[in-house]
Amino acid sequence: MSRDSIRIVEVGPRDGLQNERTGVPLEVRIQFIRDLARAGLTEIELGSFVSPKAVPAMADSEAVFTQTADLTRVRRWGLVPNPRGQERAERAGVDAYAFFTAASPDFLRENLRTDLETQITELREMVQSLRATRPEVPIAAYISTVVACPFRGAVAPGTVVALANRLHMEVGIEELSLGDTIGVASPRDVDQLARAMADDYAGPLSQVRWHFHDTRGTAIANVARVMEWGSFAGFDASAAGLGGCPFAPGATGNLATEDLVYFLEREGVSTGVNLGWLAQASLPVLMALGRRPTAKAQVAELAMRAGSGDTRKP
Ligand code: COA
Ligand code: ZN
Repeated sequence: MSRDSIRIVEVGPRDGLQNERTGVPLEVRIQFIRDLARAGLTEIELGSFVSPKAVPAMADSEAVFTQTADLTRVRRWGLVPNPRGQERAERAGVDAYAFFTAASPDFLRENLRTDLETQITELREMVQSLRATRPEVPIAAYISTVVACPFRGAVAPGTVVALANRLHMEVGIEELSLGDTIGVASPRDVDQLARAMADDYAGPLSQVRWHFHDTRGTAIANVARVMEWGSFAGFDASAAGLGGCPFAPGATGNLATEDLVYFLEREGVSTGVNLGWLAQASLPVLMALGRRPTAKAQVAELAMRAGSGDTRKP
């Protein structure tokens, strides 16, 4: 794949906020999405249609979608756990569906209260019904815990590839996102998984995204290593590095979109994202959460703007 077509899927409004107990007011969440779009992000995961008892922060995802329907240049992804979630997503008008599963059975049970065989059957039915009504709609699946599971430890690359193949061949999913949910991977882990995927994955590598959490500061090193492999779709990232998984103890933020955009642009890859506007997009969210920016490229960008007196809002 050519370097100028790396996709960024912004997951801040979903992965970033799902873990927040304080809850970010609906209007702040919607303005966040609008500001991300204005910064140039064209694929944003807006919310999830999961049980509000399991994840209270995502309870008003319907409103998030219906109130951003005018963002026609943005592919608005919705995360869906089960048929009930799929109906909710359909009614809310999502543009693209993200399903999710996990390479570790323990994580799958904690997260979705199911086992792999049951889930594969359910996923196949959901994808079939979706394809019957919306043949062109983008459908992706996250595979969580591709390097390690918080409950079970190391996950073998072969396990991930076997699951990827089942999702591709039995379920009919084209696009995957490989998630290092607890942010333990280093480039050596990326090499092992990328090699196993290159050798044995039956689907298109050009539709495989990578999803790193920066829990231990290795996310950008991992991105750089994925780029050396060359064949991939893009990266998931979260503005301000917001994030954490409610079902993975100790898993902190995603790779910050600011760090990713800075790195890619500096490497000569055009992202179409305005870093200055991006750095400001999450500020109201951080304020609602009572936090200061900590993502490196965001902090640097904000400091540079403050130093030059340029505090224009987008
Ligand atoms: N949307 C809203 N409510 C839902 C729902 C959905 N998609 N799916 C189930 N529910 C409700 C049920 O109606 C039921 O409500 P009740 O207690 O008032 O009767 C309750 O949730 C439990 O339903 P059940 O079918 O027994 O589900 P469960 O307890 O086995 O949980 C999930 C399964 C998938 C609903 C739940 O584990 C979940 O939402 N997980 C999401 C995890 C997540 O978001 N992870 C982050 C992504 S990494
Ligand atoms: Zn994640």
